[in-house]
Amino acid sequence: MDRREIKKNIYWMGAIDWDRRLFDSLIPLPDGTSYNAYLIEGGEQTALLDTVDPPMTEQLLEQLATVSKLDYIISHHAEQDHSGTIPAVLERFPQAKVVTTPKAKPILIDALGIAEDVFLTVNDGETLSLGDKTLKFIHTPWVHWPETMVTYLEEDRILFSCDFYGSHIATTDLYVRDRGRVYEAAKRYFAEIMMPFRHIIKRNIEKLSAYDIQMIAPSHGQIYDDPSLILDAYQDWVSGPPQNVVVLPYVSMHGSTAQMVDHFASALVDRGVRVELFNLAVTDIGKLAMALVDAATIVVGAPTVLAGPHPLAAYATFLANALRPKAKFVSIIGSYAWGGMTVETLAGMISNLKVEVLEPILCKGVPSQTDLEALEQLAATIAQKHAENGFV
Ligand code: FEO
Repeated sequence: MDRREIKKNIYWMGAIDWDRRLFDSLIPLPDGTSYNAYLIEGGEQTALLDTVDPPMTEQLLEQLATVSKLDYIISHHAEQDHSGTIPAVLERFPQAKVVTTPKAKPILIDALGIAEDVFLTVNDGETLSLGDKTLKFIHTPWVHWPETMVTYLEEDRILFSCDFYGSHIATTDLYVRDRGRVYEAAKRYFAEIMMPFRHIIKRNIEKLSAYDIQMIAPSHGQIYDDPSLILDAYQDWVSGPPQNVVVLPYVSMHGSTAQMVDHFASALVDRGVRVELFNLAVTDIGKLAMALVDAATIVVGAPTVLAGPHPLAAYATFLANALRPKAKFVSIIGSYAWGGMTVETLAGMISNLKVEVLEPILCKGVPSQTDLEALEQLAATIAQKHAENGFV
């Protein structure tokens, strides 16, 4: 893919990764992704903003082949999908300086072996002039590492945001065209890596609200020529109240837990509560993460195996705890054959969640009429708590 002009002397560069299906050996990427770099040719100096994932190095170097001079490589974030090709770019442009935050510098040295004297560290709010274009560096920590920053191009009012506001989509569309598709991909991305840090991200959003942003150019996915789509979405995901939704990840071995889940889901729906149900044996874990962005309640459906929760239920619980969603209530339902420590084990895995734990319901073998009635009572309690809190 050749470089593409966004505005006069400002270019998209980078690579579209159509085939990638997993990030960090963990996060599903059903739509692939892109690694966006940007070239800004100022009247006097030239800067490259971020690079690409190392397997895509040759694509970026080909795009840079006609660039005669590069003065700066701006590194917003030290994770290798954006920084990994900095050494190769430095080999081609040995006079270039790597501009980054003081916190990113040692991470880049450790990860990439870049020489210490190549760096130019910038403080929050510092500017760098390329002649007729001014880069303003704004520190935005914890989106999603501690060292992250963004760049605001003052004359063109473009925010180069790296992971912040990004989405994993492989497409030849330079700008957002299918807003629904981008919203879903951006929400998945927020859920998977940003949600645990949403309180700090809220402060970053407030900080950026002081700027007149006409365009957001992230380092994954398409460019927002109408930034309101993603700015409004982040506002909601970060600061909006939980919704009248129960997320119900479950797994069943012989059908008893599935029977409980089905009865419970019906009881919730009968009481006006929406349910997002995920069979962990087949689910896309990214879909579960997305559902956690809004849900007021999480109920894990876990059969007992080897005297504890089924490992898939433990995985979902561990993930929910790591993602720190805004849920207010948690419970556990499931079946066991002869005993075990399922509730105790799962309850010990949610220390990050600021939640009220509602009485779990475990049944021995196939659920009895009494068990089914207990599930109905749990559904009624959840509906009542959602209503009392004004969750809609
Ligand atoms: Fe796209 Fe945190 O790297």
